[in-house]
Amino acid sequence: MVSISRKTFLKYGISFGVFLSTSQVLQYCKSSSKDRYDYERKNPFDSGFLSENISPILKSLRIGITAPNPHNVQPWKFKIIDDHSALLFVDEKRLLKDTDPSFRQIHIGQGTFLENLSLGTQVLGYSTEVSLFPEGKYTIADIGKKPIAKIVLIKQEDLVRNPLSEFISDRVTRRSIYEGEDLTQEDFEKIRKDSAILYSELKFIPKAGSEKLRKQLVAAMQMETDTYNTYEESRIWFRYNDDEIGKFKDGLSLRATGVSGLKYYFARNFFLKPGTESWHSPENKKAGMDMFASQVESSKGFIFLKTDQNEIIDWIQAGRDYLRLHLAVTKSGFSLHPMSQILQEYPEMDPIRKELESSLKPGEKIQMLVRLGMSDYHYYSPRRDTKDFLL
Ligand SMILES: Cc1cc2nc3c(=O)[nH]c(=O)nc-3n(C[C@H](O)[C@H](O)[C@H](O)COP(=O)(O)O)c2cc1C
Repeated sequence: MVSISRKTFLKYGISFGVFLSTSQVLQYCKSSSKDRYDYERKNPFDSGFLSENISPILKSLRIGITAPNPHNVQPWKFKIIDDHSALLFVDEKRLLKDTDPSFRQIHIGQGTFLENLSLGTQVLGYSTEVSLFPEGKYTIADIGKKPIAKIVLIKQEDLVRNPLSEFISDRVTRRSIYEGEDLTQEDFEKIRKDSAILYSELKFIPKAGSEKLRKQLVAAMQMETDTYNTYEESRIWFRYNDDEIGKFKDGLSLRATGVSGLKYYFARNFFLKPGTESWHSPENKKAGMDMFASQVESSKGFIFLKTDQNEIIDWIQAGRDYLRLHLAVTKSGFSLHPMSQILQEYPEMDPIRKELESSLKPGEKIQMLVRLGMSDYHYYSPRRDTKDFLL
């Protein structure tokens, strides 16, 4: 759903017999697509932010945490070593045990963080040295205990910035209905070239050849919705209103889903009620599925990101590449929305996922699958304060 204007909101509001004060109208619509509500993610390159009297490592962590990450759980914790270095750990209190039982996506989120930090810190005049698994062999049993990476910032006078770093502030996951032309092979080639990914492979599926995929994506979301624990996990991370978004500064929300203006007003006030009963009701599930199906139908093309192997290190490196892909897509003017349901590894999803993966070579894994298109909907999902991540 594209963000609607105040005029349209008022027109519909009046026809529905709804009378709102000016401040109420402002609450549901933005005056410009670039406005940010107080709770929205701040631009870590704002001059006020950059001139703050804090260490370079804290500034670079603040850039890093604006990275995309599953369900916006922000699964990171940091141990500061000194003003220019820190250790990154997975935050074991912020895992998605039902939709991500292998913890693959949580580790992709470690990679997105590392790449966002490395590219973004160039703006501060530093290059970044990232050493993975600095305490040796790392397994799933080490989550939260052993560091994923040691980060060291190195001041560099003659640093040539990667042009992708310019798009860190604007990058957002857009789940709205997409408009515009279908993505062409040329559009894809340009995105691939700009992303200059290092570890994985990108594949393009044009809209014209995507009918089967679109059906599979909807079937996968239906499975997630009908599987109590996986759907419940979304509820746990769902923030029902602006107060909750501002309080928790994490998770998903109607606003993040691309619902604004009148639809937001009605959904929030008359339809969406807190609690498991309402969440798992047939009406709520159907509304969610209808919205998802129209998102998928509006896609103008798809890209997937594949690795040769499927070990923890591949997940982290795929995350680094995914961040580059997302920045390159932002640069191109297109929007992007991951559709991870079909890639997930819980038993109920196995048949649907295996059908999608049937053409892969042994060991290969599709790590990310995204739909693309054009949209001017703007919402910057919130982030917690950097100090809340420190050990
Ligand atoms: C591994 C991974 C999987 C994701 N899967 C989905 C998904 O299936 N559906 C979705 O809407 N967003 C998905 N996202 C996007 C996140 O929800 C998003 O990055 C997060 O809410 C923060 O928002 P932002 O990207 O706008 O900063 C995924 C992100 C990552 C890194």
